[in-house]
Amino acid sequence: MKVVIIGSGNVATVLARLFKKKNHEIVQVVSRELAHAKLLADEMGCSFTDNEGVIDTSAELYLVAVSDSALYSLNNSVHLGKKLVLHTAGSVSKDVLKDISVNYGVLYPLQSLRKELEPFGDIPFLIDGNTEETQTIIKDFAKTFSGNVCKSSDEERLKLHVAAVVVSNFTNHLYAMAEEFCNKENIDFKLLVPLIKETAQRTSNQSPANMQTGPAVRNDVFTLDKHLQLLANYPKLKYIYLKLTDSIVNS
Ligand SMILES: NC(=O)c1ccc[n+]([C@@H]2O[C@H](COP(=O)([O-])OP(=O)(O)OC[C@H]3O[C@@H](n4cnc5c(N)ncnc54)[C@H](OP(=O)(O)O)[C@@H]3O)[C@@H](O)[C@H]2O)c1
Repeated sequence: MKVVIIGSGNVATVLARLFKKKNHEIVQVVSRELAHAKLLADEMGCSFTDNEGVIDTSAELYLVAVSDSALYSLNNSVHLGKKLVLHTAGSVSKDVLKDISVNYGVLYPLQSLRKELEPFGDIPFLIDGNTEETQTIIKDFAKTFSGNVCKSSDEERLKLHVAAVVVSNFTNHLYAMAEEFCNKENIDFKLLVPLIKETAQRTSNQSPANMQTGPAVRNDVFTLDKHLQLLANYPKLKYIYLKLTDSIVNS
């Protein structure tokens, strides 16, 4: 397919690379910051413009990978007739695109993507379209670069996004807090990596509810008390520690 990419951040960049690898042609990158559009366009070997510029109308597909809030104001400036327009957001209805084109849908990568990193394995995609025909086109397109494509309604995608935030964004935030604690206490955070991997790996064949270990589930009050004393100088981490301990004890 001939594709115009709107946006130039993490998802725009990772998906543009994926499309190109599978011989789809990126014909233009459009982004709010011209310099950001140029960076991705140079990598793709295509033209570029900013939001004030003219969008190339020769493409078959328009991928809009911008921040969720920017999606809501897109219909003030972008109108693409019958062209297929897709967004990539977990928590935004496909209908946010209904005034932009008569053919629209969603191509949501259910994975944490960073443009400086090679994506890990096959990226799962949740797709949706405003008509049966559009859905089929999106599904066939997605299958050219992923072996894990499934149809998901706005409501299902929203629920999965909530769960995704908990398992990925929240755990990563906990890693970041633990790393800061380790650095300040002069201990090596990397020693924890096998533990992080083991805990994540178990979720593929065990229910996490049955796999809980640690002082909270054992109700080891003396250990919990020692930990809280050590965390006296880390009020934010202590707060989270107490909240999660309470959640584990009462689950
Ligand atoms: N990253 C992920 O792991 C991930 C996974 C699945 C889905 N998503 C979804 O994919 C979409 C893009 O996420 P991302 O991670 O790629 O974000 P990102 O790296 O922060 O990039 C955001 C993009 O949106 C543009 N933008 C921001 N505010 C704008 C505005 N007010 N008007 C016009 N353009 C604006 C930026 O353009 P400039 O740089 O030119 O300013 C940039 O290209 C979001 O809907 C997100 O929920 C993200």
